[in-house]
Amino acid sequence: MPTPFPWPEPPPPSCPVLKLLQGQTAIVTGASSGIGRAIAIALGHAGANVVVNFFGQPDKALEVAEEVRRCGSRAMAVAADVSDPRQVRILFERTVDEFGRLDILVNNAGIQLDAAVEDLTFEQWQRVMDVNLTGPFLCCQEAVRLFNKQGIDPARSCAAGKIICISSVHEVIPWAGHVNYAASKGGLMLLMKSLAQEVAPRRIRVNSIAPGAIRTPINTAAWSTREAYDALLTLIPQKRIGEAEEIGRAAVWLASDQSDYVHGITLFVDGGMTLYPGFETGG
Ligand code: BGC
Repeated sequence: MPTPFPWPEPPPPSCPVLKLLQGQTAIVTGASSGIGRAIAIALGHAGANVVVNFFGQPDKALEVAEEVRRCGSRAMAVAADVSDPRQVRILFERTVDEFGRLDILVNNAGIQLDAAVEDLTFEQWQRVMDVNLTGPFLCCQEAVRLFNKQGIDPARSCAAGKIICISSVHEVIPWAGHVNYAASKGGLMLLMKSLAQEVAPRRIRVNSIAPGAIRTPINTAAWSTREAYDALLTLIPQKRIGEAEEIGRAAVWLASDQSDYVHGITLFVDGGMTLYPGFETGG
């Protein structure tokens, strides 16, 4: 069956929004574009105040904050490199100064610096680890300290706080030519699970979302030509690329009390990419 190109129609825009996160405050790291942007806007639609963290794209971050305000929520764009402990501390302080508290942390900031292993520089290895793994660690640490101090406010949520890590299908799928990226996401999986085990008794809820191929700037090469898109579809049982809004909707659910008993899991949103699609036709 021929596949449409550029890609099939995206799913319809979010259905009438339930204000599942009314009165709560969220930090979304790396929210100036791609998946982070969509999550920030989805949380805003769901009633949360949103801190739009960015690194190096102020104009785009301000636009995202504006879009959140159009949903009727409050928003603030804050620059911070998530791999720098001092900047992370300031990000959390500014959140509390502006909104009085924090309820939701979404560790989304992530980068890819790809090369064959023999060509990968130490700097490419280290920067990916710094942003994709050390960043979530530093942000989780600040969030847990804050959640401990705040305790539970039943008027807002039955949890003391929620943490969502934006991982990748590559937390389980090995990826040749991307050893730094895959190692960072594998590490993030056990950071998330270990932390989930540690803080569960305090009613702090920790989970991940693992996106598959989502149409964002990080993977333009994989979807912007017919050839690349057809090759990509061989890896996706649903035979379509995902849209960032689909990750936004998953994040709203995971951040809300609707998923209160969901703890320490990775929710794969990948059109079936983790189903060994090479076995579709035999084995
Ligand atoms: C990567 C994308 C890739 C996708 C599926 C993501 O984590 O950032 O570049 O297309 O995984 O392989």
